[in-house]
Amino acid sequence: MAKQRLAFIRTFGCQMNERDTETIRGLLAQAGYGFTEHPAAADLVLFNTCCVRENPERKVYGQVGQLKEAKAKKPDMIIGICGCMPQQQEELTQMLNRLPHVDLFFGTHNIHRLPELLHKIATTGEQVVEIWDKGGDPIEGLPALRDSTFKAWVTIMYGCNNFCSYCIVPYVRGRERSRHPHEIWREVEGLADKGIKEITLLGQNVNSYGQDLEIEVDFADLLDRLNQVPGIERIRFTTSHPKDISDKLILHLAQLEKVCEHLHLPVQAGSNDVLHRMNRRYTREDYLKVVDKVRHYVPDISLTTDIMVGFPGETEADFADTLSLVREVGYDSAFTFIYSPRKGTPATEMPDQVPEDVKKERIYRLIELQNKMSLERNTKLLGRELQVLAEGISRNDTNMLTGKTRTAKNVVFPGRQELIGELVNVRITEAHTWSLGGELA
Ligand code: 5AD
Ligand code: SF4
Repeated sequence: MAKQRLAFIRTFGCQMNERDTETIRGLLAQAGYGFTEHPAAADLVLFNTCCVRENPERKVYGQVGQLKEAKAKKPDMIIGICGCMPQQQEELTQMLNRLPHVDLFFGTHNIHRLPELLHKIATTGEQVVEIWDKGGDPIEGLPALRDSTFKAWVTIMYGCNNFCSYCIVPYVRGRERSRHPHEIWREVEGLADKGIKEITLLGQNVNSYGQDLEIEVDFADLLDRLNQVPGIERIRFTTSHPKDISDKLILHLAQLEKVCEHLHLPVQAGSNDVLHRMNRRYTREDYLKVVDKVRHYVPDISLTTDIMVGFPGETEADFADTLSLVREVGYDSAFTFIYSPRKGTPATEMPDQVPEDVKKERIYRLIELQNKMSLERNTKLLGRELQVLAEGISRNDTNMLTGKTRTAKNVVFPGRQELIGELVNVRITEAHTWSLGGELA
């Protein structure tokens, strides 16, 4: 019997990419592949790439470069690069020049073609480059190999129409394409049948779900329908664009019992000037109004955000506006980013690019403030009894479990391994910046 071929996949970037990797794993498993954690042991090494910032791109060049030696020793090894990087023409040309030992390039729109592309390499022995510049209707029915038996990501839409001036995503993921609600229900019902309790709905901007479909359906309607799927206990979603949060959605957030009390609402900046140049299409005041409304209807909601420092032209006064907004909102946590110029986006051409040392100094101040706010928010939970989905064993202490509250906070608590995958009640006894500690109630 022939030895089973093994694949190693490294994923960079957002949850969309993680979800795409599950599809890739599903396709490979169907094609008879097994999986390994060691690139040198693999017959197929695949990098699912991200181009939202420069750092992950640089890592890809480094890691793929390092494989040159392993491939020299094992000439049959196939090295592939997929995802967002090859989707940019200029980047693709550069990779073709600098990484000639890569056998396969494909993009974000033609993942389903992977088995054929591998077949082509096997039969011709030649390098295969296939990038589609557009995505058509979402492709349904692809297999997926998911890691968890109790939680799952569900993509509800692909692409983005917003063209924030710093962002490459609309160029590499294409325009918004919503999946038909029936397909989503069917997938979620199938997941529930397999014992999945928590789903996270994914899209670059889930709030505009359905606008491109011929039928009348919006994101709130979708939540309403998914809330009725027996077996599903928790529904999360990400990401929301502040300009598209409707009153209807806020009411659904308040009323649908399975929809978790957590909203990830990227603000990016606190200064109206900067927000305008970012093409975010809301003001600081609009944003704060949404926050007030959400908190009015869902008082216990946890709010998280994405914030960028060093956008072109950001002055010290603009940055002070970001800090004051962070103080005013009191986020539970935030992802903080240094602006990274992306070729082909309008912001790259804007005057007054901020020097690196200023960007760094600003992000330190921002992180310091946010850490203080996170600890303050977490401290308020001391003594509360919260529902936690037990997700795994703590890395630091095997007698402890880790899990997440409905508000997306990490909790560490003593518990038996059998509880993993179960919903338990935990009394909170410790508050830290990034996690809570507790005991079973
Ligand atoms: N530079 C830095 N951060 C960026 N993001 C998107 N594009 C860039 C960029 N060019 C951040 C935004 C977005 C998050 C996913 O990544 O904050 O919300
Ligand atoms: Fe990028 Fe803006 Fe679309 Fe988010 S909404 S993916 S930041 S263009």
